[in-house]
Amino acid sequence: MKKVITYGTFDLFHRGHYNIIKKARELGDYLIVGVTSESYDIERGKLNVQDSLLKRIENVRRTGLADEIIIEEYQGQKVNDIIKYDIDILVIGSDWRGKFDYLNNYCEVKYLPRTKDISSTKLRSEGKIYTIGVVTEEAFDNGIVAESLYVSGIHVKSVFSEAEETAREFCEKYELHSYMTDYQEFLSSVDIVYVKCPRKNRVKYIEQAIENGKYVISDSPITLEPDVLKRLFQKAQKHRVVLVEKLMLVYLRAFNQLVWLTHGDMVGKVISVKCSISQDVFGGGKSFNETVSHAICAVMKILGGECLEVASNAVKDEEGRFVYDMITMKYPHALGTIEIGSTLDVENGLAVIGTRGRINVPNDWWNTGYFEAKIEGNEFLKRFSFNFEGNGFRYLLQELLIMISDNRTECTRLFYEESEALVNILQVINQKG
Ligand code: CTP
Repeated sequence: MKKVITYGTFDLFHRGHYNIIKKARELGDYLIVGVTSESYDIERGKLNVQDSLLKRIENVRRTGLADEIIIEEYQGQKVNDIIKYDIDILVIGSDWRGKFDYLNNYCEVKYLPRTKDISSTKLRSEGKIYTIGVVTEEAFDNGIVAESLYVSGIHVKSVFSEAEETAREFCEKYELHSYMTDYQEFLSSVDIVYVKCPRKNRVKYIEQAIENGKYVISDSPITLEPDVLKRLFQKAQKHRVVLVEKLMLVYLRAFNQLVWLTHGDMVGKVISVKCSISQDVFGGGKSFNETVSHAICAVMKILGGECLEVASNAVKDEEGRFVYDMITMKYPHALGTIEIGSTLDVENGLAVIGTRGRINVPNDWWNTGYFEAKIEGNEFLKRFSFNFEGNGFRYLLQELLIMISDNRTECTRLFYEESEALVNILQVINQKG
């Protein structure tokens, strides 16, 4: 019996997919089709898949051509499958020509011509495109324009600034469709607003955007006033939109996995979470509050939002300039410690210390796809590595699209009550600092 295998994402199933599966089936007596899992697609940087894995499998099943359907979950799985299922021929479209030649040692590799003029990418681009507008006071985009190119269904269209010169410069620099100085007109032209102006002006722009039924992404912290934040969140829920705080950390697979493993007792009871961050390294020139928000968020995600006591030990130089701070967040049976170097270079890193081991995220822990664990009784370090591309903004945009398509009114990566707890802590630090 001749066994054939072929692989694909098969998103928005189209005739090109049907044709290749049919041709693959005709080449043998038994056909296995491998469908990529969601996490594998994210892992390899394919962030634009629209159909769920179940739907994609169902579409392949409905062709009636596959004798067996398997899930492709990791890089390198093809070799294992070929050996495991005793495959004679691997079939793949000609867009992959040459890429799988190394598998010739295991089976015959056949590249078949693609069906012309159709692809999932093309179909996706025909669907609804959500437009983003940026609210700014400087001609710098925090990377959103380049990052948005990796997420299909989203497009940065225009910019608003009260200063016409800034708006025009931004628009030309990032080659946007338009710039505006009238906020109401700007709001009518976009679906999503990214507010990245200085904190003192954020609330008014956010509030007006929500009232106009727009989804909003705001730099962090949104405000330092807990009551104001509550009001904004309530307003977002009333208008059935989501207000997303741009704390990229919570969108990173590595960090989410770390939190999940920690809550799953991997290092026993957590006694200490320590993170160090140099303001200069953290995105260069970001404000103290934005820098410290990420660190508080990391501690809170691991130890919870209900800390008993927050203490700040700010160090200032002779001119009264803030240079260094050691913040402690006391919990009933644990301690969070945050070291911030404002002009000083501290050794960036995050450590979670538990009764049975420790987890370390070396270097830029707020922007990473890697961490390692040393567990009691294990001689070796356990290493965890996830794909991480760009500056992380694409992962936030991807999740925002899911929130929109699910009609959610709250961000599930950072719940409103977590944002509120974070602002309460920030307020204490700012009063003490
Ligand atoms: N395929 C094909 N003809 C097309 C499109 C896809 O023969 N017009 C083949 C691919 O070469 C691959 C399989 O179908 O062997 C699954 O492809 P997949 O990547 O899922 O589909 P695409 O439409 O190419 O998706 P995308 O646009 O996201 O790359």
